[in-house]
Amino acid sequence: MKTEIDANIQAVLDSAQFIGGPYVAELEKRLAAFAGRGYCVTCANGTDALQAAFMAAGVGNGDVVFCPDMTFVASVEPAKMLGAVPVFCDILPDTYCLSPESLERQIQAVLAEGTRTPKAVVAVDILGNPCDYDAIAPLCERYGLILIEDAAQGFGASYQGRRACSFGQIAATSFFPAKPLGCYGDGGAVFVDDSGMEALVRSLCVHGQGPGGKYDNVRVGINSRLDAIQAAVLLPKLKALEDYELDARQAVAERYRAAFAGKLVTPAVTAGGVSAWAQYALLAENGERRDRILGYLRERGIPSMVYYPKPQHALPVFQGLPRYGETYQNAMDYCARTFSLPMHPYLGEAEQKEVIAAVLEAL
Ligand SMILES: Cc1ncc(COP(=O)(O)O)c(C=O)c1O
Repeated sequence: MKTEIDANIQAVLDSAQFIGGPYVAELEKRLAAFAGRGYCVTCANGTDALQAAFMAAGVGNGDVVFCPDMTFVASVEPAKMLGAVPVFCDILPDTYCLSPESLERQIQAVLAEGTRTPKAVVAVDILGNPCDYDAIAPLCERYGLILIEDAAQGFGASYQGRRACSFGQIAATSFFPAKPLGCYGDGGAVFVDDSGMEALVRSLCVHGQGPGGKYDNVRVGINSRLDAIQAAVLLPKLKALEDYELDARQAVAERYRAAFAGKLVTPAVTAGGVSAWAQYALLAENGERRDRILGYLRERGIPSMVYYPKPQHALPVFQGLPRYGETYQNAMDYCARTFSLPMHPYLGEAEQKEVIAAVLEAL
């Protein structure tokens, strides 16, 4: 893609229109069409996308936002920053996504306590795997909660024929370079269905600007916009993702699954879903074995990562939050045993064989 990306970057430099402009407008149109959503508003990163989503949802002081216990801190951080109380829910033991049963237990516990207002649910398409939206969306409806999809890792995934970023009232994604659709720096986007919400998110991302424009500020917002250079990079990359990268990711994941089935715990894809395979995470028998495998791979120069070593409830920043008796057994077990292997659409078969051989040797 180098020729096209380089030409696009040069065109932005020549235009000197570094913020907004035709590349950003075109990208937003293409992203909304790809996700099957009414509108896309791009912004500076995935964390800002979530913050704008929470602000648009009206999350504030005293509200409760239900979040999965196993995710990246950015899924939770903006809610806390807005004065809300994150209440963590356990994950499912096989897909590692938000457990609908744990979610309902936590909602009922908050309601029974009666001092806080249940407001929103953040469903994270963790590691690229879409959540069980057929279970989560009706729960949100029943309890009057706003569903926010954190598709930072899930761009390109689908569930029951619908693409990630199309679930909930608002969805957010990230274009951080390691994501399924990555740019050359930071980037993010918010997806909504109606024009009123689109206008609200656009206003929030530009200092709460009003109908009178830039200097007619009607609410407190943030400054979060996507650089034109990033949009120029993302346009050809979105086409590649659609044309062949998603299929290539499936092939890499299938080769790992075939090699490790019965030897390590391989990740289950949510029923009715297709994972974007942002990461390929295996579970070792226990934490000690996981650490020994990681050490062996490190010695051989094979990259591996732990996404994530700690569940959210165990992070220092979230101490003192109410747990309502939840023990987070699945999230703790996952975090102790997980490790991820190289995963991207350009991982050749020969290279992947080396990775697989090293893991099998370690075992
Ligand atoms: C699940 C999840 N949510 C949110 C984010 C935040 O995205 P960004 O790094 O673009 O701010 C990330 C990525 O790091 C993520 O993995």
